[in-house]
Amino acid sequence: MSKVSVLFVCLGNICRSPTAHAVFRKMVQDNGLQDVIDIDSAGTAAYHVGKHPDTRSMETARNRGIEMLDLRARKVDFGDFYVYDYILAMDEENYHNLLDIALPEHKDKIQMFLDYTSEFEESEVPDPYYGGAQGFEHVFDLVDSASQGLLDHIKKTHLV
Ligand code: 4NP
Repeated sequence: MSKVSVLFVCLGNICRSPTAHAVFRKMVQDNGLQDVIDIDSAGTAAYHVGKHPDTRSMETARNRGIEMLDLRARKVDFGDFYVYDYILAMDEENYHNLLDIALPEHKDKIQMFLDYTSEFEESEVPDPYYGGAQGFEHVFDLVDSASQGLLDHIKKTHLV
């Protein structure tokens, strides 16, 4: 079985992409695929490098049985485009920022994360940073749904 690697990307790497990282990690573990699927997350901005996820994201996740205290923010690195098979952007701005810096041969790896769910109308995971608790709940719901779709896709295309 060949390995598959996934990088989730948002702006600060403290709200949306670490939520995706932790939710997808739990699904992968629950499916016994932790040795087959490598997961990380990163931000296109460096404001919060080295910080743990936003306490509101951690609380939302913890209430749903997901732990993310071990995660630390980092910025996307040029080497990531070589390493990761799936580079999944939370919103259009981050998607275009990634496309702008990637080499032509790596651009196909960059996708919108919500392409992996049809359960919601939205195509972007909205930035919850300046909003209230409801925004963090919604981020979790979107991420949870797209993570399930992503796992189904990877199982179908790589792990048969
Ligand atoms: P994230 O959320 O991109 O989902 O981690 C944000 C975190 C911090 C900021 C913006 C968005 N900020 O402007 O500091």
